[in-house]
Amino acid sequence: MHDLNVIHKGKGTPVVWIHGFPLSSIIFEQQVELPDVRHVVPDLPGFGKSAPRDLDSIDEYGSAVLSVLDDMNIDHAVVAGVSMGGYIAFSILRQRPSLVSALVLIDTREGPDSPDARANRYSQIDRVRTEGHRFLVDDMLPRMLTRDTLQLADRRATIVRRAMESASEDGVTSALRAMAGRPDSSSDLRSFNGPVLVVVGSDDDITPPSDATRMAALASDSTLVTIPGAAHLSHVERPEVFNEAMRSFLARVP
Ligand code: MLT
Repeated sequence: MHDLNVIHKGKGTPVVWIHGFPLSSIIFEQQVELPDVRHVVPDLPGFGKSAPRDLDSIDEYGSAVLSVLDDMNIDHAVVAGVSMGGYIAFSILRQRPSLVSALVLIDTREGPDSPDARANRYSQIDRVRTEGHRFLVDDMLPRMLTRDTLQLADRRATIVRRAMESASEDGVTSALRAMAGRPDSSSDLRSFNGPVLVVVGSDDDITPPSDATRMAALASDSTLVTIPGAAHLSHVERPEVFNEAMRSFLARVP
């Protein structure tokens, strides 16, 4: 039995939504309104309402999500991941290719960390251990949404902040370690034959549009959607544009 907090809503095509770092299931609150979908939205270990676990690798996060689906007897699903959630989606594809009917890759990338990015994760781990993870919220929030949206200080900014603040220190350090060690997923993406929706915010500077273009080129059946006026959390910032792209995409998922 899995021990994660999971939002489970609706009937139809199963879609598992995997959140990014250091966020939680709340970032999909606009997506779980999409009709004809059985939405499965876990809080990853140590985020939202899920207890932390001492996890070392991105595959352990993939296994945690697979346990949720196994407990629900879901053996075929659209796997949708935002950023770190995308890294986990690739792990699920590697571990259980038969489960993945389609992939939705939102503001993410298939490649591993560069040596500099990896070193930065380890210094963040040290910093979180000495001063907590508040600095990550302050550093990352301005990159999650565009300045225009942040100035409005509406529900979108509130949910991103709330998601970040609900992360636990152990959850944050485990996820940083797992992201630092994640493998290159380009061969997994290249060998996947199902439909792939790649979505990116035009102003995403964490996983920029060039990453999305490269992923779309690697996949054999891809649709690339660039959302104008959106940064790293394009589905939060422009939910109406994202949901419309998702609706058309799901219409062609087998
Ligand atoms: C995320 O949004 O999940 C993170 O920015 C991913 C990362 O740090 O690589």
